[in-house]
Amino acid sequence: MGERMRLDKLMALMGEGTRSEARALIRAGRVLVDGKPAADPAAQIDAGAADVRLDGRALCYRPTRHVMLNKPAGVLTAARDRSQRTVMDLLPPLYAAMGCMPAGRLDKDTEGLLILTSDGQLAHRLISPRHEVGKVYEARVDGLLAVADVEAFAAGLHIDDADGAFDARAAALTIVSSSPGESVARVRVTEGRYHQVKRMFAARGVSVTHLKRLSIGALSLDPALASGQWRELTDEEVALLKREAP
Ligand code: URA
Repeated sequence: MGERMRLDKLMALMGEGTRSEARALIRAGRVLVDGKPAADPAAQIDAGAADVRLDGRALCYRPTRHVMLNKPAGVLTAARDRSQRTVMDLLPPLYAAMGCMPAGRLDKDTEGLLILTSDGQLAHRLISPRHEVGKVYEARVDGLLAVADVEAFAAGLHIDDADGAFDARAAALTIVSSSPGESVARVRVTEGRYHQVKRMFAARGVSVTHLKRLSIGALSLDPALASGQWRELTDEEVALLKREAP
């Protein structure tokens, strides 16, 4: 037997609008449960086993949800905030109701790949430095990058700034373009300290002017997702992530 819950709640978690919208559909006689018209929105239903249909269409209940978001700049990575827009505001309410939370944090001005999942264990594994899941960022900086920077990143930078001191793990820096006024590079890190990438570049004397996360482990940001767009992960992508952080 699966999880039991009210029919109106189950329909909301199946993505069929709010609970009150589900109640209206049930009262209008448009919902069948195991072949019989459902009349009671409060009826307790086995979410994993019941055959729930709306206008004849079978509805699907997935106990866990995983989302890939192309986070835009200007949005907070948080479950909620009193005054500012958060990444949860970019998703339909279904995902908050299912307990989806951001797996890790991108700064307000950072863009790119963010995973939101209702699987707390998966989120933890993706974030925990113990699992060493690589995260690749593209950074634009306001100065010259050279081989000495690649070597310094590879050796492990010592960070000591207003936010504290730590020894960053070795990180792979690939210079995409370089000039005295502006350079672009990709950097792969396996930990996620506060402002980690910005502080690593600052330790080399340049400031990050634009930062975008391109991948987490073997999962890359879907190029079809414009800034602010999202989609659910496929089963294959979820399996890929789970293999990455066993
Ligand atoms: N490193 C940063 O400095 N900022 C981010 O948002 C992510 C990594």
